[in-house]
Amino acid sequence: MTQTAILGMGHYVPEKIVTNDDLSKLIETSDEWIQQRTGIKQRHYVDFEKEPMGASDLGAKAGAAALEEAGITKDDVDLIIYATLSPDKFFPGDGVLVQAKLDIPAGVPALDIRNQCSGFIYGLSIADAFIKCGTYKNILLIGSEVHSTGLEFETRGRDVTVIFGDGAAAAVLGPTQEEGKGLLSTTIHADGRFADELHCPYPGSKMMPRITEENIRNGDHYPQMNGRNVFKHAVSRMPEAIMEVLAANDLTPSDIDLLVPHQANLRISEMIQRRLELPPEKVMNNIQKYGNTTAASIPLALNQARQEGRAKPGDLICLAAFGAGFTWGAALIRL
Ligand code: COA
Repeated sequence: MTQTAILGMGHYVPEKIVTNDDLSKLIETSDEWIQQRTGIKQRHYVDFEKEPMGASDLGAKAGAAALEEAGITKDDVDLIIYATLSPDKFFPGDGVLVQAKLDIPAGVPALDIRNQCSGFIYGLSIADAFIKCGTYKNILLIGSEVHSTGLEFETRGRDVTVIFGDGAAAAVLGPTQEEGKGLLSTTIHADGRFADELHCPYPGSKMMPRITEENIRNGDHYPQMNGRNVFKHAVSRMPEAIMEVLAANDLTPSDIDLLVPHQANLRISEMIQRRLELPPEKVMNNIQKYGNTTAASIPLALNQARQEGRAKPGDLICLAAFGAGFTWGAALIRL
């Protein structure tokens, strides 16, 4: 039976590092507050003055690295799936921008998905369906974000601003016939009743004009979050989704070699680890270095785990996501 395997991965983060102390020079916050509440020590930002980059630029670099590791060329890509909440433009989506940047041949489809922090898991489940059906062979799945150009560097937006960082990561997915290897299950969910709990309201097609000077003065074009409610739902939805993919394979949390949760907040990851009764070393965390990179967060953490030897061929890896929408999901992979 055909299964979907990860053939290669790559990631890219901009060089510029912004520490909590750097932020506390701009907004009323402190290294102590940020570390205590989120675990974050630093994040990477695009150096906008030196080299402006959009999410598609980061995504293209991550995509190129993933193609190289997979040992395939741009001409072998059959489909691009691209996840972001910070696209370069209102339209077209970043998928086609990455296609042009990587010189992936004309005619290859590019699918943009808008599932925020769950984007990579949603993308995996779409890719899995296409690969299992035999529709496409090599799928380039990219998660990329440039948050730094859309954050409010004022005390008003500090709850959101301190959390997010820029980054991109990608995977090349393809078919394998190797028994027991590859993606064992994915599950994806949403509950749109909570759409306003974490959102960026402007610009929007519901308004004419789509954004006004007053909106900008009010900061309506910055992300807004009910952090406590997001936290509350994240710590129950991610374990639920994890249990779902485990149960679908007659497995339990103790079978997991490494859990790679979306890097939303170190406290969220620790709570999930305790709920599933996993030892801390079985949970991958890199939010300390990168902050929350949304669609890039899971593949960035997974690729780092692969590079550090914490996720090895044959290991059972569980990925779990939760984010704006609300959307959430999980995936189980035998590497
Ligand atoms: N620095 C210093 N103080 C801050 C701050 C910051 N960056 N952000 C908020 N505060 C203040 C608040 O104004 C509030 O002050 P008050 O008590 O005087 O009103 C106080 O800290 C507590 O705020 P609160 O929002 O209740 O804190 P919290 O413990 O819920 O932590 C988050 C806030 C954002 C860290 C936390 O809710 C969280 O991580 N939520 C999940 C967010 C997330 O994962 N988002 C991405 C989803 S994918």
